[in-house]
Amino acid sequence: LGRILALLIGYCFGMILMGYLIGKSKNIDLTKVGSGNVGSTNTMRTLGVPAGLATLAWDCLKCVVAVFFVWLIFGRFVENVNIYMVYAGLGCVLGHDFPCYMHFKGGKGVASTLGFIIALFPMGLPIPACVFIAIVALTRYVSLGSIIGELSFAIEMLIGAKMGLLDGKFEGAQLKEALVICCLVSALSIALHHANIGRLINGKENKFSFHPETRA
Ligand code: G3P
Repeated sequence: LGRILALLIGYCFGMILMGYLIGKSKNIDLTKVGSGNVGSTNTMRTLGVPAGLATLAWDCLKCVVAVFFVWLIFGRFVENVNIYMVYAGLGCVLGHDFPCYMHFKGGKGVASTLGFIIALFPMGLPIPACVFIAIVALTRYVSLGSIIGELSFAIEMLIGAKMGLLDGKFEGAQLKEALVICCLVSALSIALHHANIGRLINGKENKFSFHPETRA
């Protein structure tokens, strides 16, 4: 029950989609412009850099807040709060990707994964962050950077766990549970990039630019 509760708390935070809300405040439906995504890339592409950065900041921060909230509430009642915090992080990513009030069509979970990593596995941040930055700098494809960055996160978690780097934080079955969730978060985000993958293959993917394509 604790895990479900943590998941639900995370889900509620995750459903608050900053890009979509900023778009709505300017009478722009982000699901209908640019790539149709409500994440920070499409917000920046459509509404400009400040709106994009605000979206990135909140979509990442909401995961940190959800995890912190669960730590604060569950910490005094359970023995190992870490696994509940992981469920809160997963819930936040799911809320972002599948918000119920938008017919379960949300973002692709990249900024929320960033928040997930910062809140739960901060030591694991440098590798996916460097992979993301390097690929975007080289190709200007944010989606490609996101896909490979997500993949590198899952791989480094599996290798890190094998090396015993997560010992002490999670033990036995809980370690496996945490790893499955990390791989799920990563795989989900990659799967949600299916349209981007199609465009990348066909050479039709949007390249990153600081100049918005449409303004209100
Ligand atoms: O944040 C999602 C990013 O990887 C791709 O965004 O709008 O180009 O589909 P977009």
